[in-house]
Amino acid sequence: MRNVKISALGCYVPPRVLTNDDLAKMVDTSNEWILERTGILERHIADPDMATSDMAVMAAKAALEQRGIGGEEIDAIIVCTVTPDHMFPSTACLVQHQIGAKKAWGFDLIAACSGFVYGLTTGAHLVGAGTHKKVLVIGADTMSRIIDYQDRTTCVLFGDGAGAMLIEPAEEGEPGFVGFKNEIDGSGGPALKMRAGGSRLPASAETVAQRLHYVDQDGQAVFKFAVRRMGDISADLLAECGIQSSDVKLMIPHQANIRIINSAAHRLGMKPEQVMINIERYGNTTAATIPLATRDAIAEGKMAKGDLVLFTAVGAGFTSAANLWRWAY
Ligand code: UT7
Repeated sequence: MRNVKISALGCYVPPRVLTNDDLAKMVDTSNEWILERTGILERHIADPDMATSDMAVMAAKAALEQRGIGGEEIDAIIVCTVTPDHMFPSTACLVQHQIGAKKAWGFDLIAACSGFVYGLTTGAHLVGAGTHKKVLVIGADTMSRIIDYQDRTTCVLFGDGAGAMLIEPAEEGEPGFVGFKNEIDGSGGPALKMRAGGSRLPASAETVAQRLHYVDQDGQAVFKFAVRRMGDISADLLAECGIQSSDVKLMIPHQANIRIINSAAHRLGMKPEQVMINIERYGNTTAATIPLATRDAIAEGKMAKGDLVLFTAVGAGFTSAANLWRWAY
């Protein structure tokens, strides 16, 4: 596999903000409970006329602009999402058209909160094989469309957003992709799912009346799995690559709950300054948390060219993912 690098990053969050106090007016909750149990202060919510592809296009255009290229140079587009505009055509098709990526193929990747790291792994291998030169990996989710704002156990957690990274060939010795470890444990499927709307239980008047088209979660089961697996899969990847946790400049974990992040980081022996947290601003944006956290980490001067960065996530499935990259710009 040839050396590959992340050469650009673009993000988008919708301007409208939903605060904890706003939510306390909608369900029986409080700013104190949400902040203490999750670390979230506010999240961004898309207006009704904005769908996942719209946010994905904004993020993609920002990445292309940073790199100074047009969409026609892109070879493949991977959109990681659990909230596609439609079941088909894929969101990747909608993005391809909007950014003028005339020679690109692409697809949607469903891996929930692990989606973006799976996407990075896939993109790295497409470029690493020598068959693709520019692959755009986008994480985009409009979680507000599948959240029950009458369910206080889920509605406080999620927000909307998108992020895109461009993967390209790198010279030997240039900072780039170091390694990956991704897994599925399908026994965890029932703990986090959307019950209706697929081929198992198609949409009907009954499924709508029973509120089965929303995120359905056993929070404690997900929490326990996430703490254990996020720490372990990251430790396994570091061991396979012969890297100590102290060598990692920044761990950029999926932002689902500050307590999950802190526990996983503690299991890995990471110091607080090695862990990126921005959940207070965006909540859990599913496939978009990692690019958004990377953008903020760069802006805050927490990582720079050559630094070793650990992306890690756990999500519905259960899916788990870890990637090590040396940041290339
Ligand atoms: O990216 C993957 C996606 N999901 C996750 O990563 C989520 C993983 N799970 C979690 O983050 C946590 O389990 C939650 C934040 C969802 C819940 O926190 P918890 O500390 O596990 O709370 P709990 O479920 O044990 O509930 C404790 C209490 C319950 O009341 P009782 O039964 O003790 O009277 C809940 O009904 O807190 C209550 N509760 C709330 N109270 C105020 C649950 N949600 C709320 C709320 N406001 N929003």
